[in-house]
Amino acid sequence: MKALILVGGFGTRLRPLTLTLPKPLVEFGNRPMILHQIEALAAVGVKDIVLAVNYRPEIMTAALQKYEEEYGVNITFSVETEPLGTAGPLKLAEKILGKDDSPFFVLNSDVICDYPFNQLVEFHNSHGNEGTIVVTKVEEPSKYGVIVHKPDHPSRIDRFVEKPVEFVGNRINAGLYILNPSILKRIELRPTSIEQETFPAMVKDGQLHSFDLEGFWMDVGQPKDFLSGTCLYLTSLTKKNSKLLTPASESFVNGGNVMIDPSATIGKNCKIGPNVVIGPNVQIGDGVRLQRCVLLQGCKVKEHAWVKSTIVGWNSTVGRWARLENVSVLGDDVTIGDEVYCNGASVLPHKSIKANVDSPSIIM
Ligand code: GDD
Ligand code: MG
Repeated sequence: MKALILVGGFGTRLRPLTLTLPKPLVEFGNRPMILHQIEALAAVGVKDIVLAVNYRPEIMTAALQKYEEEYGVNITFSVETEPLGTAGPLKLAEKILGKDDSPFFVLNSDVICDYPFNQLVEFHNSHGNEGTIVVTKVEEPSKYGVIVHKPDHPSRIDRFVEKPVEFVGNRINAGLYILNPSILKRIELRPTSIEQETFPAMVKDGQLHSFDLEGFWMDVGQPKDFLSGTCLYLTSLTKKNSKLLTPASESFVNGGNVMIDPSATIGKNCKIGPNVVIGPNVQIGDGVRLQRCVLLQGCKVKEHAWVKSTIVGWNSTVGRWARLENVSVLGDDVTIGDEVYCNGASVLPHKSIKANVDSPSIIM
């Protein structure tokens, strides 16, 4: 089987992290976001994976080549000279996606869930039309693509509205599709949107169906959602009794859902959790309190710091008695001084913060 992952876009909403790494390589649950998808695709027998890239392809190529062997897949980089949107990249990869009559998967790279690929193939084959998109329910549908069904049909889509201004429904496009190669005829090689052009045309012809996702789902393309998605992901691992989590019996674990890389060091009398991810080589000092946060590789949290709802970027340092909260995001190599308070601070790489940040702001 074949798949294309849309990994373009500048990831601006995930700044300052994406100033250092392209969004798909930012670690989610201690692994590059895109690896969750590559692993799930390999597990259902996908052999050919196209990565549609338009931004800093050299970093992506270097990072992902090693996974080809690990997961037994061929990864091809399809590099756009200008951003081709969400449909143009499919046309650009026509040679691979259209090499036989079998359907292919298309994935947005920033979507985290229990990927239901086996059931999706089965359902898609059962209706025999051109495309199936995975849908999920959300409370705030306006930032997504919304689907509405035909009244007389359980799965055939009647309308697809991208980022609706007025409420049309709460079932949204989860950013995972399976499509027949025939849809490539609908797409021209130019910047074009699958949501705004291809899907509405397929809907008109009665060729697009929906498949309901079970379990958690999150587009983790912005810090607030990255943190919420981390909580959902850790909760799903807890339900599965996953070995990736630190046992709740550890004295410092509070409330579970804690993932700690084995190379990290934890000081005395810490209270960690719930919903914390600690990356490789992270150093946690004595008496540190962590909750609902992600600490990326090589960062250091000094004694008695208090970190909540925060992403601490690679190699950053949080000072003694510092207090971080309310979706603060530190880029690579940031230093937060001792006793400094950060409320929703978004701090660009290599900055040193010596004074309190009392209200949400970007520090550059
Ligand atoms: N190769 C390539 N080229 N990829 C692109 C380009 C491009 O020009 N533009 C965007 N992408 C990729 C992004 O990297 C991402 O993986 C995917 O296409 C979707 O773009 P986003 O910018 O993340 O879109 P969104 O989150 O606002 O909306 C999309 O996702 C929602 C679900 O999370 C839409 O598909 C919505 O309909 C959907 O509900
Ligand atoms: Mg997105």
